Amino acid sequence: MKIGILTSGGDCPGLNAVIRGAVLKGRRKYDIDFVGIRDGWKGLVDADFFPLTTGDVKGLSKVGGTILGTSRTNPYEGDRGGAENIKKTLWGHKVDGVIAIGGEGTLAAAQRLWNDGIPVLGVPKTIDNDLRATDYSFGFDTAVNIATDAMDRLRTTGDSHQRCMVAEVMGRHVGWIALHSGMAAGAHIICIPEVPLTLDDITKQVLAANDRGRAPLVVVAEGFKLEGQDEAYSDRGLDAFNRPRLGGIGEVLAPLIEHATGIETRATVLGHIQRGGSPSSFDRVLATRLGLHAADMVYEGAWGKMVAMKGTEIERVSFEDALGELNEVPAHRYEEASALFG
Ligand code: F6P
Repeated sequence: MKIGILTSGGDCPGLNAVIRGAVLKGRRKYDIDFVGIRDGWKGLVDADFFPLTTGDVKGLSKVGGTILGTSRTNPYEGDRGGAENIKKTLWGHKVDGVIAIGGEGTLAAAQRLWNDGIPVLGVPKTIDNDLRATDYSFGFDTAVNIATDAMDRLRTTGDSHQRCMVAEVMGRHVGWIALHSGMAAGAHIICIPEVPLTLDDITKQVLAANDRGRAPLVVVAEGFKLEGQDEAYSDRGLDAFNRPRLGGIGEVLAPLIEHATGIETRATVLGHIQRGGSPSSFDRVLATRLGLHAADMVYEGAWGKMVAMKGTEIERVSFEDALGELNEVPAHRYEEASALFG
């Protein structure tokens, strides 16, 4: 049996650990051959395949990025795209099925290909932790650790100058990174996409922290909207999926906070730093386990499903379940954290 592996969408620490887990177990236990598919769905459409051996995945669990490359390509677009062309490409190269590692967009494409008769299974990836079918996705823990470390640093410089520091983290639709890193770093207010706040709500907490002699730390997710704001802030055009490129709300908030409070306020946008570098040990273990289970699924012919973490166990869920609603921060979790604000 020969299986292709691809990584698609935004990269994420832990992708290489999934690839390593799948290839090592697939080769050693089930005698499966693997090919790497370069740059996500693009490589599938273009038949850009290369052999992937156990030697190629040596030492990969600690390596950030993806050795396969990634892109935000839609496999149904272009002259060579679409299920019938892809079937011909796969069968022509004697590839029996595909392990697709990616987020919402990738898994939606995987589901469509599966419905059109192509054996595909999914491994969820998102630093935002926004997929409901899995309790945690790899990359999230690493992003939270990086953001927390950055905020700890922002706090010492903020303290020295008695400045208000605004830290902007990723989180397009959900505020998990902001909530966890903000709680870990002792933020005085956390702004997430699920909870619109007024400028007044924010400055009240900034002033309360300042009155207690603390240098206020404001944590904001890129997808946060001030009450009354229709769309998340974006001034960087659209990405390949026609989604606005987010980022910059921290820079918008900082002068507003400074003007309203009289406290000098500086913004730091953490951006792609959160997605780069080595995965945390939690993410290495999670990603490796997902890869190992993906190899089991291939052997058992359990296509059309996704591996997911439920509690501490790895389970299989349908693409339908995986692609239902987003994993938003529940109101009670925000409420819980808000006891620490100000
Ligand atoms: O989906 C994960 C994510 O990190 C979002 O938080 C962010 O908006 C997006 O990816 C950025 O993607 P790109 O690197 O393609 O601009």
